[in-house]
Amino acid sequence: MNYTEKFRPQYHYSPQKNWMNDPNGMVYYENEYHLFYQHTPFASQPDFGRMHWGHAVSTDLVHWEELEASLPPGEDGAIFSGSAVVDTQNTSGFFDEDGSGLVAIYTNNDNKVQPGKPQVQSIAYSRDKGRTWTKYEGNPVLFPETTLDFRDPKVFWHEDTSSWIMTLAVQDRVEFYTSPNLKEWAFASAFGADVIGTHRGVYECPDLFSIHVDGDPNQKKWVLILSVGDCNGVNPNEPEPPAGGSGMMYFVGSFDGKTFTPDEPILSIHDVKWIDFGSDFYAAVTWSDIPEGDGRKLWIGWMNNWRYAGTLPTDKWRGNASIPRELKLRTYREGLRLVQEPVEELRKTGSPLMALENVTLVPGTNPLADITTDRAELIAEFEIGTATEFGMKVRKSADEETVVGYDTLNMELFVDRTNSGTTNFHPDFAAKHQAPLLPVDNRVRMSIFMDWSSIEVFGGEGLAVISDMIFPASESNGLELYAVGGNVKLVSLQINELGSIWR
Ligand code: FRU
Repeated sequence: MNYTEKFRPQYHYSPQKNWMNDPNGMVYYENEYHLFYQHTPFASQPDFGRMHWGHAVSTDLVHWEELEASLPPGEDGAIFSGSAVVDTQNTSGFFDEDGSGLVAIYTNNDNKVQPGKPQVQSIAYSRDKGRTWTKYEGNPVLFPETTLDFRDPKVFWHEDTSSWIMTLAVQDRVEFYTSPNLKEWAFASAFGADVIGTHRGVYECPDLFSIHVDGDPNQKKWVLILSVGDCNGVNPNEPEPPAGGSGMMYFVGSFDGKTFTPDEPILSIHDVKWIDFGSDFYAAVTWSDIPEGDGRKLWIGWMNNWRYAGTLPTDKWRGNASIPRELKLRTYREGLRLVQEPVEELRKTGSPLMALENVTLVPGTNPLADITTDRAELIAEFEIGTATEFGMKVRKSADEETVVGYDTLNMELFVDRTNSGTTNFHPDFAAKHQAPLLPVDNRVRMSIFMDWSSIEVFGGEGLAVISDMIFPASESNGLELYAVGGNVKLVSLQINELGSIWR
């Protein structure tokens, strides 16, 4: 298979052809990580259309094999986003006496065919590891009383109450439902309608999970994730996500099986916590059924933004996933914060290209002048000196560059893609995105994942993350270490080139 077209991500998942948006139904089952996703396998153009679930599997979270799309739309409408779980105890009765299998819980959307028709939730089961699905004859299993926007069910098994919990996006709020068997659902509670600062657009793709605090298995918290759509500003008085368009936020709190209660009151827009400060990380949800022995919270997002998703300058396919990331909850002086780290599996596949230690950078010199790469992880640690700005330029040529820098006056990490290559497909694309990041012991760390059409920067051990698409020319593969207005010490730099993930 040819995965070398212009802008084709080399280590990010993208379908061979056509459209992709949200990742769906991520579940680990019988030694395979499943990635389903919003996809139009049979369309003649790579555009949003009548949604199926595309399907890919991986045994190592790095290499992916695209399988035939499953869950085709039918008279029930298009198959929108949702989740999948292993029904270990056969609560649904879909499996053999003592067997288990996968159950997918998804939204049917028929608005296009029948305007005004509300969205409903349906289920399907698979006895062959997600290759084929049977839709339940009792569908839909959940439909709204009034709201048209009623979608993106994310389901998990809640040990304490021995029941399934569904987290659902309902226009301006999240609703929680409970079920003993995945077929019958009862309303439990709602969250978010009165939360200030979260209503720029419609709610989408929520997720609720428990996570260890500082890695301590005896201390757990609940985290509620929310994607908020662009929708041209349903409520333009509310704040936009940091980089504009669609974005993601989170709340830390507790959950008793019915109700989510945030720890910190959300009294103003300043209390809202953003997941990612770049423009292109959306609709991320966590993997279900990661084995206890592993215990990580893993997720993947759609590397895109509804503001310009339909106009990206790729021909054969449009849309790709982020790299898989691990979520952690860490204690900082200002409270508990969600951090994201690239999964270690991906890091392990890198081959060292070069390393540097203890180099003082001054304006006008570039220790990387002889190095080229177009897909690598670059891990750098700087000790702040007199420079007001420093960092790295990647995917660089005489007239293109993507700048990953640190602004010492504003204490911000940033990605500047103003001059990153093709940007003219949308007026908002050429932009600089910044994330607050305090130095630790006067040092700033950043890990940069750069690919043929994207950059993901993890600052300060994953507290400040910036994910951005870029569309540089293939010849733009130069690198630069830079300092502005003074010097900075590069404590260490490692560049690991990453291979192709396509089998
Ligand atoms: C989020 C979203 C979901 C919906 C899906 C449709 O990006 O709008 O709310 O289910 O995409 O493709």
